[in-house]
Amino acid sequence: MEPTQSINEQVQTANDAENNSSATAPENNQTVNISESERHDQSATAPENEREHLVRITDISKIYNPGENEVRALDHVSLTIDEGEFVAIIGQSGSGKSTLMNMLGCLDTPTEGTYYLHGTDVSHMTDDEQSDIRNREIGFIFQGFNLIQSLTALENVELPLIYRKVPRRQRGELARAALERVGLGKRMDHKPGELSGGQQQRVAIARAIAQAPPILLADEPTGNLDSASSRDIMNVIHSLYEDGRTVIIITHDPGIAQQAKRIITISDGHVISDSINPNV
Ligand SMILES: Nc1ncnc2c1ncn2[C@@H]1O[C@H](COP(=O)(O)OP(=O)(O)OP(=O)(O)O)[C@@H](O)[C@H]1O
Ligand SMILES: [Mg+2]
Repeated sequence: MEPTQSINEQVQTANDAENNSSATAPENNQTVNISESERHDQSATAPENEREHLVRITDISKIYNPGENEVRALDHVSLTIDEGEFVAIIGQSGSGKSTLMNMLGCLDTPTEGTYYLHGTDVSHMTDDEQSDIRNREIGFIFQGFNLIQSLTALENVELPLIYRKVPRRQRGELARAALERVGLGKRMDHKPGELSGGQQQRVAIARAIAQAPPILLADEPTGNLDSASSRDIMNVIHSLYEDGRTVIIITHDPGIAQQAKRIITISDGHVISDSINPNV
């Protein structure tokens, strides 16, 4: 892929190609089965070794407390995720979902194995290097919203942009646009305590998307919400996916997982299934 082309442009091109796929039916009328992930991948026809996946983790293990009482939170996990995919990672409590999310989000490094993001090995980077990657590539959404109570919605969304040294005016513009995007244009001056749970999570989503990171990582984003607010948040997440973002949702809720295009199940630190969701 052309390195100068932005990820969103690449995804857009891939989506356009998908929308036009009827124009390129094979001449011999043979049925061609292409997986959802491949249809989202512009370079699906390239040989495996030339294809650059967005995420490629190979044989990753995470071992807490090495020694007698060690916990293998992830045990030889390998998987790839392509740009523009909508993936749910599902599994019971303690199965290793958050550990995997921390790896995917460059918040932690594996004990063993390698993680390539855009073809670059990010599993052996320093904290500063990982932090740069996170700032550029990844928007995080957590179960507990993680908003600062003393700041308004707008200030909460602006805060990471301050850390990223975005100039003040641009900061305000990006934060306002993100809050409008999640339907909170009229609540920007409210503090978290003056917002409902669903609205607080929308502020957190606005904070995650303000600088248009190509990857959205959400760990139980609806875990603290009633069902109406959950639907609301999933609608926002769906529309971000439709915009071309890669969305990875960690959940133990099968109803949430069923909304993703691909469902990966982990159990005891192992991937036990990985399949395209036939229901969407
Ligand atoms: N810092 C840590 N030190 C030791 N063990 C840990 C640590 N973090 C997680 N674990 C263990 O690793 C395993 C996987 O934990 P993880 O948090 O990834 O599970 P999870 O699937 O996210 O669970 P939940 O659905 O409850 O959030 C668990 O057995 C947990 O006890
Ligand atoms: Mg967890």
